[in-house]
Amino acid sequence: MTVTQYRNEPFTDFTVEANKTAMLQALEKVKQELGQSYPLIINGEKITTDRKSTSINPGMVDQVVGVVAQADRELADKAIMTAYTKFNEWRLVDPAVRAGYLFKASAIMRRQKFEYCAWLVYEVGKNWAEADADVAEAIDFLEFYAREMLRLNEPQPLVPYEGEDNRLTYIPLGVGVVIPPWNFPLAIMAGMTTAAIVSGNTVVLKPASTSPIIAAKFVQLMEEVGLPAGVLNFLPGSGSEIGDYIVDHPKTRFVSFTGSRDVGLRINERIAKTAEGQIWIKRLVAEMGGKDAVVVDASANVEEAATAIVASAFGFQGQKCSAGSRAIIHRDVYDEVLQRVVLKTNALRVGLPENNDPIGPVIDDKAYNKILEYIEIGKSEGVLVAGGDKAAGNGYYIQPTVIADVAENARIMLEEIFGPVLAVCKADSFEHAIDIFNNTEYGLTGAVFSSDREHLEYARQHMHCGNLYFNRKCTGALVGVHPFGGFNMSGTDSKAGGRDYLLLFTQAKLVSEKL
Ligand code: NAD
Ligand code: ALA
Repeated sequence: MTVTQYRNEPFTDFTVEANKTAMLQALEKVKQELGQSYPLIINGEKITTDRKSTSINPGMVDQVVGVVAQADRELADKAIMTAYTKFNEWRLVDPAVRAGYLFKASAIMRRQKFEYCAWLVYEVGKNWAEADADVAEAIDFLEFYAREMLRLNEPQPLVPYEGEDNRLTYIPLGVGVVIPPWNFPLAIMAGMTTAAIVSGNTVVLKPASTSPIIAAKFVQLMEEVGLPAGVLNFLPGSGSEIGDYIVDHPKTRFVSFTGSRDVGLRINERIAKTAEGQIWIKRLVAEMGGKDAVVVDASANVEEAATAIVASAFGFQGQKCSAGSRAIIHRDVYDEVLQRVVLKTNALRVGLPENNDPIGPVIDDKAYNKILEYIEIGKSEGVLVAGGDKAAGNGYYIQPTVIADVAENARIMLEEIFGPVLAVCKADSFEHAIDIFNNTEYGLTGAVFSSDREHLEYARQHMHCGNLYFNRKCTGALVGVHPFGGFNMSGTDSKAGGRDYLLLFTQAKLVSEKL
């Protein structure tokens, strides 16, 4: 198989008239397809259930995006056992053939990019650029992991030893339970799923409850490219009802989870228990929350820093694990940076994602109420300088909110809010700023603005996070360029989109033959 060099999928420029027209047409086309029903898929069989869950547009809450069947434990068991049986065939399929399914899926997704964007706009409330970045990242994962499997399938370097033929191969693990979040409902879901599949594992995919339709579309795509039945089983259902069951199942070999700290820790504890009939130690790949920050040094370019703070805090309404929900600013430039942040925040229009307003809704009523509560907590912990309330619209709209003069131990400096709320804290020195940055239980992303080389080197050594950026925002990691994953309560630092990622879904087998 001839494979071209990996390149990141370019982002779409929506100021180009042809792209804007294509996006509007895709939104119209997808709108006609809203409200349909989607079954579970186990071993290629489409199964409808009496119990259903309705996915709605968070920006227009009476618009139904789709209705999806809900698995119970019996169906969950069927899905795991199907994947278990299928594994014995799939593990022996040539890795190049497995990679071929990902290449085909990527080609189709690229051709249908605007439609995938439209589904993201409707189901989770992304604006066009955020939706486009999600689709581009999904394409990147497919292209990158396919090539990674080809690389791992090549002869692996070993120290030569006379009289022996030694070979090390990476073989798959077994049945993987894949549990993605809703906030990158295409990219992260597709990346987690296809990394496991291309490595030779079979998968039971339990989509997030607020974004099952995008996941269903992706599963349809994998069917379209001819992925054999039973390799990818689609099991929507309530996390609390079937989540524990599939995690605990004795035939589950590993769990690939991305989501909140609390659910990640729960899974970590549960998989440590050996179920009856289980003959392996389950593996967990867990990517969890963040309390990320942009640090601004006295020597920083204040305009660039303010722009990055706003982009990091409010991109997709702050609903990114990488979101810069804290700004830690040196006292010498504090007032100036804050003033610019407030101006830029107040300029952000809140409205319907379909119309491409920069700030859309948050995902659901639970998030809406939680974020509004945090805003009230923030008002008592600092000075409200922008936003601070609900915003108008037939959905879960909240004003982008900035709370200044917050103490380093305030709750809004420590707890993940996962919404459009920025806490701003003043530091006495650069070293103090780094101490404040490290003062959380998370360690996912961080950014530093400084023109002082010594300070940047200090940050390189002392800022404890998996993805650290100098003089740019702390969101927007690119597959292959910025392998992504965090420390401490941000997870197991799996570095999705990096060269180590597929190893997490394989085990190395050494065969030594005496010549
Ligand atoms: P969540 O933890 O509520 O849900 C994540 C997934 O877990 C969903 O599919 C959910 O249905 C499932 N789930 C819930 N209870 C379960 C249980 N008992 N057993 C098994 N599965 C269960 O998180 P979310 O709201 O979907 O996503 C937001 C969180 O994800 C934030 O904390 C964010 O920081 C984090 N996140 C992290 C990364 C990363 O790469 N580190 C990326 C995206 C999101
Ligand atoms: N990978 C995403 C980012 O870096 C979460 O923003």
